Amino acid sequence: MTFDVSRVRAAYPALSDGYAYLDGAAGTQVPSAVIEAIADAYRAGIGNAGGAFPASGRSDAILAECRRAIADLTGAVPEGVILGPNMTTLTYRLAETLSRQWGPGDEVVVSRLDHDANVRPWVQAAARRGAVVRWAEVDISTAELPPGQYAELLSERTRLVAVTAASNIVGTRPDVTAIAAAAHAVGALCYVDGVHATPHVPVDVGALGADFYATSAYKWSGPHIGTVVADPGLLETLSPDKLVPAPGGVPGRFERGTPGFADLAGVAAAVEHLASLDPDPKTATGSRRERVQASMAAVEHYETELFARLLGGLSAMGHVTLYGKAARRAPTAFFTVAGYTPREVAERLAARKVNVWNGDNYAWELTGAFGLRDSGGAVRAGLVHYNDRSEVNRLLAAVAELAPDGVR
Ligand SMILES: Cc1ncc(COP(=O)(O)O)c(C=O)c1O
Repeated sequence: MTFDVSRVRAAYPALSDGYAYLDGAAGTQVPSAVIEAIADAYRAGIGNAGGAFPASGRSDAILAECRRAIADLTGAVPEGVILGPNMTTLTYRLAETLSRQWGPGDEVVVSRLDHDANVRPWVQAAARRGAVVRWAEVDISTAELPPGQYAELLSERTRLVAVTAASNIVGTRPDVTAIAAAAHAVGALCYVDGVHATPHVPVDVGALGADFYATSAYKWSGPHIGTVVADPGLLETLSPDKLVPAPGGVPGRFERGTPGFADLAGVAAAVEHLASLDPDPKTATGSRRERVQASMAAVEHYETELFARLLGGLSAMGHVTLYGKAARRAPTAFFTVAGYTPREVAERLAARKVNVWNGDNYAWELTGAFGLRDSGGAVRAGLVHYNDRSEVNRLLAAVAELAPDGVR
């Protein structure tokens, strides 16, 4: 059965503005169901959590349902779902907390494939504790992160391995399962950045072997909320800084201050939206976990085909240089265009109603390794499940226009 992208697109009011939203890697648009869920929460009346009156009870219910929804999306349990404003804030919080157990001579392993949000919090925490940072390197010719190197990088002193499930610029999806297994073999924890992977593939934190898995709802059609999921038993062993009267249990003690309850209702609606994307009626009756897994498999299939068209078109252009060609990748292209800065390309594309990003996109280490960081990075065009062929064609036509005469 084919993925009905026009049905999907109709769910997103913002897509009717005529722009091709190929900027989803920096944040997606939001379907009506999510907008309505947020508005409905406010319409119904919500209060702060834990009170004796119904509006407070509604907030308690929203919070509980949000944890269940994220558990269904990731394969975690609701009691292990930590909520916060975004992935960066939560990762700093976890780095502060986990690094309390580190001392001089301990080691952490980070990768040059990662977004800086899964690098710097660990590097800075290591510096405070006198711990050593080891770097997993990217093969620049392919943008692969070879898992074999972890055998050399890990030792009985390794306390934590931080690695991404997908690069936010070149899409590389490294072998997290192998890397996590290697970390566990030396008694280290594995912190996986799932921000870029989650919108594109079915997620199963157990199968990945992730001790912590971070993702942000605004990358998968939800509002600006971040989450880290972990085994509640592991969370029980950790003591983040917290206010004395704030919840002392798990996961509440990792959450600071009052959350945006209405947005949390939007997160649950976004998971329901993802779960509804599978066009196959055979799976429509399953649990939300089953539906979301089937849907994301359909999304992965659809996006992979569309991405092949995008990559095929760009790689046929002599004035375009593409970065990365990993065997397994999220549908995200990173490229430069001869004769134009990345910003100029983005501006020319915007004039053709095509939204793309330019710059390092916070992939600080990787753009440095590519030698692009000081020259304005590159252009990033990313697909999500609401993008279609006509948008890819428009991108390709707009980039083709930038060819100098006779070069194409
Ligand atoms: C792969 C990846 N990791 C981490 C982040 C940071 O996420 P947040 O904006 O939720 O802090 C981003 C944001 O672009 C990202 O793409």
